[in-house]
Amino acid sequence: MNTYSTISKAYDLLDRTYFAEKGNNPRKVIQELIPDASVKVLDMCCGTLSNTFSIAKMSNLIKITGVDISEEMLSVAKKKCQDAHLQNVCLRCEDATNTKIENETFDYVVIGLVLHESSPKLRQEIINEAYRVLKKDGKLIVLEWEQQKSLIWKIKFFPLYVTESMGCLSFKNFYKCNKEIYFNQFNFLMKKEISCNYSVVMEFEKSLL
Ligand SMILES: C[S@@+](CC[C@H](N)C(=O)[O-])C[C@H]1O[C@@H](n2cnc3c(N)ncnc32)[C@H](O)[C@@H]1O
Repeated sequence: MNTYSTISKAYDLLDRTYFAEKGNNPRKVIQELIPDASVKVLDMCCGTLSNTFSIAKMSNLIKITGVDISEEMLSVAKKKCQDAHLQNVCLRCEDATNTKIENETFDYVVIGLVLHESSPKLRQEIINEAYRVLKKDGKLIVLEWEQQKSLIWKIKFFPLYVTESMGCLSFKNFYKCNKEIYFNQFNFLMKKEISCNYSVVMEFEKSLL
């Protein structure tokens, strides 16, 4: 049994604890980056669909595919979609490093709050898979924890910082690294970086090989 099978039902509390304060809610920032138009969006490691549930509700034209390895997280996502009668979401229980999706399928790939808790190898494989399934002019949107600037935010973020550090050996390195340089290694060019509550939303384009 992995962590997410235990915490799936309580996972959405994270949003109420860390993102609902006055300020920039990263989920809303992601929503604003996706146009209300006929686009295909892949939510990689979608969990309970925290990033794309509200996007799916915006328009039936937007087709969302959510991929996650945890059946428990996906079953929370599925219940949310059923309750909201959403027809434009397809959920798949797959490893994000091998989605079996055709090359260059999506206009947008969203990767939220998973890279910091992945080993360097897993992180690399997830990003390479995102590159593969993204259209040439597609965009990668990444949500990650940001280094806290003010003392009060550092204090409030501290419990999460400790939990994440204990959960993954490479957390601190990734948390502190320059994301523009990091993603450049995988042929992604940073186009936007939007500071949000405790977190940052980044938008990347493919640099064509
Ligand atoms: C912290 S949650 C993030 C959920 C959501 N993306 C968000 O922004 O809140 C991390 C998710 O990544 C999933 N995950 C971890 N490794 C994965 C893999 N190799 N393939 C697919 N999903 C994976 C976990 O099951 C979990 O649902």
